[in-house]
Amino acid sequence: MNSGAGGGSGGGCAGAAARSRGGSPGGDGFAPSALGTREHWDAVYERELQTFQEYGDTGEIWFGEESMNRLIRWMQKREIPLDASVLDIGTGNGVFLVELAKFGFSNITGIDYSPSAIQLSGSIIEKEGLSNIKLKVEDFLHLSTELSGFHICVDKGTFDAISLNPDSAIEKRKQYVKSLSRVLNGKGFFLITSCNWTKEELLNEFSEGSWNKENRFSSCTRVVWFPSSQDSGP
Ligand SMILES: C[S@@+](CC[C@H](N)C(=O)[O-])C[C@H]1O[C@@H](n2cnc3c(N)ncnc32)[C@H](O)[C@@H]1O
Repeated sequence: MNSGAGGGSGGGCAGAAARSRGGSPGGDGFAPSALGTREHWDAVYERELQTFQEYGDTGEIWFGEESMNRLIRWMQKREIPLDASVLDIGTGNGVFLVELAKFGFSNITGIDYSPSAIQLSGSIIEKEGLSNIKLKVEDFLHLSTELSGFHICVDKGTFDAISLNPDSAIEKRKQYVKSLSRVLNGKGFFLITSCNWTKEELLNEFSEGSWNKENRFSSCTRVVWFPSSQDSGP
């Protein structure tokens, strides 16, 4: 993950740079970073909101446009019905929600813990003339009870960010898995795009026996990892 949030649409990634040799206070070799903090994202989206209001620029698309196309292609290939409920975890500027709606998905929700991100998403969605997209300021690690039963949960860069939190990153990752098991339908899919985690690491992180035997991810088949920068996905 790069630190270039705030302009541009490349959404590059310097994930390897986030790993420190021999471990770190963040745990599992991730060097703690401001990218893992709410203050960082509040500042990013306050800035991006202002830029959007002044110039109409929607701002950073993490991992680039192709990362959104990959996800939609996968959903198309798996014949995910257009009325399936989709949750975008850490939606940022909400551009992926716009893409989903334009493709025809009709039951879409975006959450982010940054109020400015949600305000920016709302403005972009309004400018696109789209309705029917639900937006909510929500900390995924401290969920309100009403979010549940989603058929598809999408994460593009959010688990990466949480993994870099300078304060108890391992605990936060465990909480992420718990929250996911609450919001995802038992037969749903979790689609994650990451630049800081390999496929094997992620499947291990979300699968049985990693932390929480009670979570629903007893089978890896429901967790689908997408590379952050290659042309082909699963
Ligand atoms: C790397 S950005 C990715 C944004 C967006 N998914 C995209 O692809 O452009 C990470 C996002 O996760 C959000 N985020 C981080 N931790 C969160 C949490 N605990 N709950 C909700 N959102 C969170 C940040 O505010 C930010 O919008």
